[in-house]
Amino acid sequence: MAPVTQLTCVACGAVAPTDAMTCPACGPEGTLDVHYDLDAARVAFARDLEDPALTGVWRYRALLPVADDGPRPPLQVGPTPLLRLDPARAPGGFRALWVKDDGRLPTASFKDRATSVAVARALEAGAPGLLCASTGNAASSLAGFCAAAGLRAVILVPRSAPRAKLAQLLVYGAELFPVAGTYDDAFDLSLPAAEALGLMLRSTGVNPYLAEGKKTGALELAEQFAWDLPEWIAVSVGDGCIVSGLYKGFKDLVAIGRIPRVPKLLGVQAAGSDALTRAWEAGLDAPAQVEAKTCADSISVDRPRDGRKALRAIRESGGAFLRVSDEAILAAMPALARASGVFSEPAGAAALAGLLRAKDEGLLDADTPCVAWVTGSGLKDADAAIRAAGGVPEPIEPTLEALEAALRARR
Ligand SMILES: Cc1ncc(COP(=O)(O)O)c(C=O)c1O
Ligand SMILES: [Zn+2]
Repeated sequence: MAPVTQLTCVACGAVAPTDAMTCPACGPEGTLDVHYDLDAARVAFARDLEDPALTGVWRYRALLPVADDGPRPPLQVGPTPLLRLDPARAPGGFRALWVKDDGRLPTASFKDRATSVAVARALEAGAPGLLCASTGNAASSLAGFCAAAGLRAVILVPRSAPRAKLAQLLVYGAELFPVAGTYDDAFDLSLPAAEALGLMLRSTGVNPYLAEGKKTGALELAEQFAWDLPEWIAVSVGDGCIVSGLYKGFKDLVAIGRIPRVPKLLGVQAAGSDALTRAWEAGLDAPAQVEAKTCADSISVDRPRDGRKALRAIRESGGAFLRVSDEAILAAMPALARASGVFSEPAGAAALAGLLRAKDEGLLDADTPCVAWVTGSGLKDADAAIRAAGGVPEPIEPTLEALEAALRARR
């Protein structure tokens, strides 16, 4: 670990104590940035890349807030596959399109990156467990990592969370409390609940060290591209923590001289959950509030908890926010799967839908090198997947005649 030198508030810039969750002056609006001694990090980062014993996210420990040889959760996190789509079959005719498949992480979503760092820190601190409110993936991730590490996991989710995510929580043995309300209601309860129960908080947008875990996506992608990144990176946005975590990772890499600039970040929102896109269009640096409604449950958020950081990430990277319809998201799921073999949940496929939209809007063209970040596996929400692919066909009699008749009927 490079020593954490300070935390600063995204809203007012003030320095906060290194054990603060959000800015003491600004409250939940003031999420915090983690700063390191980057001179020390530069040297240690280069040395660690040469060490074959360091695998997955721990290759990047020099830029992470964990002790160099501290305890780690036992699940392996990354590297996840980076696939280049065949230009002849890529949706939208993209000729330089890659898919980063984070559906292949241990609990099948990007959230494992942040959880691995959160749980490593909990183990280091001797915490008895963690608590989180989540739309589903952060919760199932925390449940899996706590099961692996032998820690307590207390989970608050909206009762509408997809069944596969609930199934993960139950099977991993988390203490599950579906909340009769929205994700935002669950989130508001998580802050006092963690304090009352003496548990570390893993809710998005409050614990500044979680963004450092998300950052590993950027570090890993940059290494996979041999430090020569494509122009655009598209990722879906709900609370804004993933996109701001990725931005932080690229920014740290610029600061230690590994990459020349931060790639342009495309923040993709569902049209029915577009609080940040609205703020972006209005030129604001804090998010609007909406009443979210979208089939992409993971990015269904009324009030983005890390909105300021997300807006800053998009602005400073020279990127853009845009919105895509639920129809476009559902169409992107089979389009992506059939062109690449990557089965994504709606929020993951939204990244591809966003790139297609960006091309239509002239932000980029079919020759622009870009990455669609698949943030969660399609197995997370089988009902949405079946809907996206047009439903399960009616059964046929188990005879060759019936099969041939059914084939003819489909032509
Ligand atoms: C699969 C998936 N994609 C995207 C997101 C959006 O991340 P954020 O809320 O940090 O913007 C989430 C968050 O739950 C997610 O689970
Ligand atoms: Zn502040």
